[in-house]
Amino acid sequence: MATPKNPHAGFSDAVSRVFLEIGFGGGEHAVGQAELNPDVGYIASEVFENGLCSLLSRLVPEGEEENAVPPPHFRIWPEDARILLRDLPDQSLDQAYLMFPDPWPKARHAKRRFVHPENIVQMARVLKPGAVWRVASDHPVYQEWVTEVMGNQDLFDAPPPATERPEGWSPTRYEAKAFREGRFPFYWTFTRRP
Ligand SMILES: C[S@@+](CC[C@H](N)C(=O)[O-])C[C@H]1O[C@@H](n2cnc3c(N)ncnc32)[C@H](O)[C@@H]1O
Repeated sequence: MATPKNPHAGFSDAVSRVFLEIGFGGGEHAVGQAELNPDVGYIASEVFENGLCSLLSRLVPEGEEENAVPPPHFRIWPEDARILLRDLPDQSLDQAYLMFPDPWPKARHAKRRFVHPENIVQMARVLKPGAVWRVASDHPVYQEWVTEVMGNQDLFDAPPPATERPEGWSPTRYEAKAFREGRFPFYWTFTRRP
C-alpha cells in the first residue's frame, strides 16, 4: 500500500513521478496508463471489492494471488480516495485521473459527486503546479455539473472538454458501456495553476 505521507517511498523501486487514479473500476485504465508511463509510481484507488479483485487478476499471475506482491511501480489504495487525498502532502502528485465517476444524478445527492468544491481544493493542494487532472464522464447531469463547478473555480485551467478520447488516454469499462448505450463522453484536461 502506498504511504500517504510520502508517496514516493511507497514504491519498492525509485519513481520519478507519482500518478493517482480515483475509482479504477475494473482496472484496465490503471494498467494501461501504468504501462504507458513506466517511470511513474501509480497509485490506484477503489472501494469496490470486485474492482480490487479484477485489478489484482490483471497484475498477478493466476494462482499466485495469495502471496502476490504488486509490481514495483504500482500500489493499490483499497479505500475511499478522499482519505488518501486528505493525508497526501502538498504538491506530491504529478497527475490524477477520475474516469467516469459515479454520477449521482439526483440533485439531493449532488454532495456525493467527486467533482465538488471541497474535493477540488484537495486535488489542487496535492497536485504540483502544471500537473494535469483528467476527468471523463458520459452522464449529461454530471457533464453539466462539471462544466458549472469547474467554471466557478480558479485553481485549475479548465478548457472545454474533448468529445473524442484524446491520444494517450486509455479506454475504460464504463466508457465502453457508454458507447454501447449511445452516450457521448466528455474528456476534460484540467491543469493546476501555478
Ligand atoms: C462508474 S465507476 C467507473 C469505473 C472506472 N473508472 C471506469 O471508467 O470503468 C466509478 C467507480 O468509482 C469508485 N469510487 C466511488 N467513489 C470512490 C472513492 N471515494 N474512492 C475510491 N473509489 C471510488 C466506485 O466504487 C466505482 O467502481
